[in-house]
Amino acid sequence: METSSEGLRIERKTDRMLTIEQLRWAGIRNGASVLDLGCAAGTTCRIMAGLVGRTGRVVGVDASHKRVEEGRAHADHRQTIEYRQGFAEEIPAGKGEFDIVWSRFLFEYLAEPQKVLAEMMRVTKPGGTVCVSDLDGNCIWHHPCEASLQKEIDAALATLAGGFKPRIGLSLFSLFVDAGLQDLSVDVRPYHVIAGGIDADREEHWRMKLEGVCNALTVRGWSPIRAISLSTRFMSLLRDSRSFTYSVLITMRGTVMSVK
Ligand SMILES: C[S@@+](CC[C@H](N)C(=O)[O-])C[C@H]1O[C@@H](n2cnc3c(N)ncnc32)[C@H](O)[C@@H]1O
Repeated sequence: METSSEGLRIERKTDRMLTIEQLRWAGIRNGASVLDLGCAAGTTCRIMAGLVGRTGRVVGVDASHKRVEEGRAHADHRQTIEYRQGFAEEIPAGKGEFDIVWSRFLFEYLAEPQKVLAEMMRVTKPGGTVCVSDLDGNCIWHHPCEASLQKEIDAALATLAGGFKPRIGLSLFSLFVDAGLQDLSVDVRPYHVIAGGIDADREEHWRMKLEGVCNALTVRGWSPIRAISLSTRFMSLLRDSRSFTYSVLITMRGTVMSVK
């Protein structure tokens, strides 16, 4: 869902307090070595760096050269963050390199989530933690929603299938079980709750997000007019004083017992 403003969109939408709470739940603490997989322009890496302090280490990996460059451009002399361009399917890191391997809002874009989870385990120390956080119901649950709009949303999701899994959160638990992770914990919380309209800030965030969706749809054969029309109707739905939208953020934590 690449756009020229994607790094900025992620920076602006990141809820710092929620992120700190999630990272502490993942076990990120002073002195830990941590990997953020799918780090984008490093918004979460910078929060992690504050939690691990000078004795810890933060590495961010992202497939996008542009995001990695943006992350490096944010360098702050008080924080040591190393960015590596690379793919989650073949993480550019050594076996057992990290205490905690974290990933948020990446799995919904993966063709082979099991393969990536195995990679995350490979780069985690024995006894270390793997944590994955993603959504169930991203962009799909709205009420009331005109039948013709719902049909067009469903068509868009079908077009993006394979490249976007809006219900990946639901399958994270079984992915962790099947991967052999131990001491599993699940955290579930509401996300994207929009009841009776959105304020200007959130509207701007959704505008940026829908720009990425339009790009992805046109690359997959939709006419620009059709994609923009869907985006316009979707925004009207979010602004509607009777409309309710939500998704659920599911976070899994598990311990790696042995490195394969
Ligand atoms: C929505 S952003 C997530 C940003 C951040 N983790 C957060 O919590 O907001 C998804 C990121 O995953 C990256 N990405 C997508 N597929 C990837 C892959 N196969 N390997 C590595 N990074 C990938 C994208 O470039 C993008 O920066």
